[in-house]
Amino acid sequence: MTTDLAPFLNLDDFERHALEVLPAMPRDYYRSGAWAETTLRENRAAWERLRIWYRVMRDVSARTTAATVLGGPAAMPLCVAPTALQKMAHPDGELATARASARAGVPMIVSSLSTTTIEDIRAAATAVDPAARTWMQMYIGRDRGMVRALAQRAQAAGCDALVLTVDTPVWGIRERDIRNHFRVPDGLRIVHLERPGGPTGHTGSGIQEALSWTIDASLTWKDFEWLRDSTPLPVILKGVCRPEDAKRGVELGAKGILVSNHGGRQLDGSPATVEVLPHCVEAVGGRVPVLVDGGVRRGTDILRALALGAQAVCIGRPVLWGLATAGEQGIERVLGILKQELDVTLALAGCAGVADATADLLLP
Ligand code: FNR
Ligand code: LAC
Repeated sequence: MTTDLAPFLNLDDFERHALEVLPAMPRDYYRSGAWAETTLRENRAAWERLRIWYRVMRDVSARTTAATVLGGPAAMPLCVAPTALQKMAHPDGELATARASARAGVPMIVSSLSTTTIEDIRAAATAVDPAARTWMQMYIGRDRGMVRALAQRAQAAGCDALVLTVDTPVWGIRERDIRNHFRVPDGLRIVHLERPGGPTGHTGSGIQEALSWTIDASLTWKDFEWLRDSTPLPVILKGVCRPEDAKRGVELGAKGILVSNHGGRQLDGSPATVEVLPHCVEAVGGRVPVLVDGGVRRGTDILRALALGAQAVCIGRPVLWGLATAGEQGIERVLGILKQELDVTLALAGCAGVADATADLLLP
């Protein structure tokens, strides 16, 4: 049965529908923030508070949403954020995401906790568009050999960057998962992080006990330097919140900074990403691109991010809601809606393209 997508006008329509159709365990895993979910809510609310101080009489009859994202072309300044376990949303899982992102002309960041191999994901993306861009998200777990092997595997598969997530010394506590006794559904595998002879993990109550070995609470900048030296691929840091951390990362060779609080899933009470974005942009000082994610739900939010100095945004949950609603077509529609919203936002703000989205567009 195919879902008629005509009534889906915005990303909230997809969220509402997905929350209705998904079984409780994946639904709550996807939607959850940590603890009281204040950061989850604030991520979104803080974008909405920024007022767009539009220009008039600018001739916006010829305009484009096209952008450069981390040195390559994209149809709009947006990437698909890494989210784990996509086959819980739809049997096609990451393959649907790969195809839809490639068709939409935006990079996909693959979660290291994916339920499809990076080789199969790359094949699906490049079958749609040989120039499709795929980046591999990494955690540095206790077994450094496995980390290095995954980095090499991603490179061999044709990924053009690694995204190192640094906001998970331990897993944030998501109470809905604990209540649901969250576990990976039977038949699904976290394909890249299975220990030879060992269980996949990710069973039991919440993710802390079962996935703890995929992360490492002892991580420091030395481990970033180790990964940087273990791969020829550029490494982007994901989960940066403070300007001095952004600066340190750039000084140590990060090729991009992704300002993120993991979609409010780690430290509840941490600031909304948009609140800290300008500080991180200032600290980076144009040396590398700054990206941001968390609560981006409208084309207007993309313009807001650009005006604050981000090169692009990433979106996490909306892709899962599209996937749960209608697989590849659902994600395509999610991305299409955002692109159309951005296009109209640019026009109404007096911008012919993303380069015109400058700081003065936000009311101080
Ligand atoms: C995530 N996120 C994430 N990040 C990461 O680096 N590796 C991962 O495997 C995951 N997995 C994951 C699963 C789910 C269900 C969610 C909701 C999020 C965080 C993700 O990349 C991104 O930072 C946030 O989702 C962005 O916020 P929004 O767009 O979901 O509000
Ligand atoms: C999460 C991990 C997998 O947020 O990143 O659930």
